[in-house]
Amino acid sequence: MLVVIKKNYEEVSREAAGIVAAAVRAKPEIVLGLATGGTPLGLYKELVALHQTGSLDFSRATSFNLDEYLGLPSSHPQSFHFFMQEHLFSKINLPAQRIHIPDGSLPGEYGEYCARYEQCIRNSGGIDLQILGIGRNGHIGFNEPTSSLASRTRLKALSRETTEDNRQSFANESEMPKCAITMGIGTILETRKVLLLASGHSKAAAVAKAIEGPITSSVSASALQLHPDATFIIDEEAAHSLTQRDYYHHVVEMTKLFSREKLS
Ligand code: F6R
Repeated sequence: MLVVIKKNYEEVSREAAGIVAAAVRAKPEIVLGLATGGTPLGLYKELVALHQTGSLDFSRATSFNLDEYLGLPSSHPQSFHFFMQEHLFSKINLPAQRIHIPDGSLPGEYGEYCARYEQCIRNSGGIDLQILGIGRNGHIGFNEPTSSLASRTRLKALSRETTEDNRQSFANESEMPKCAITMGIGTILETRKVLLLASGHSKAAAVAKAIEGPITSSVSASALQLHPDATFIIDEEAAHSLTQRDYYHHVVEMTKLFSREKLS
């Protein structure tokens, strides 16, 4: 794993945007895996700015989002459909027919639907670059603690911690989602490259467990230790509990010399 420690959230976002932009330019028909939440907002802002100044074209790209709450229609302001439209898709030229987000409004047949989502990823050639955030409990996507490290896209019950984190976003308790459709950890491990972004003290414990702890289903992000090309881009606050920060800085310096393309 490559661990890139940046001063603050703005630098994390800029570094991630540089890597994503270079990947899109290198392979215009790239298949992107996308995340929602507060963390990638800065990245999406940077990508929108690059697109609007004419230096980034998404017209041949495809995207698959990680997850969506169950029970929310795409018009709901807290749905991930709404989020993606508002913060990215309405502002770039990614063709609507190549945007994929799990459908949270399904009435049933989830197993069949999730198998089709997986098949659709395979039919597109697989995900080239997956963006991830991390939950305070170490989740990636909505793979809550104890998710199988081999899990595929499926319906997943949200943990109490995730539900608590959601509380401030939902005015009405009865609307708060209890489940989500999420890509699995097995699905994420098959992507060709992963960029996990994290910012702030509240993520420090999860980040340290993911990078330096044992691989365990109790911390889903620790499964990324098995990924051949995973980069964590984190700010100093999120890096606070890592014990090998000096070594990570040294590795980044060496990466600049020997594998420049891994950084922005
Ligand atoms: C969202 C997702 C989640 C978030 C995580 C962190 O699509 O898959 O795993 O990345 O909950 O959320 P924020 O960035 O809001 O702290």
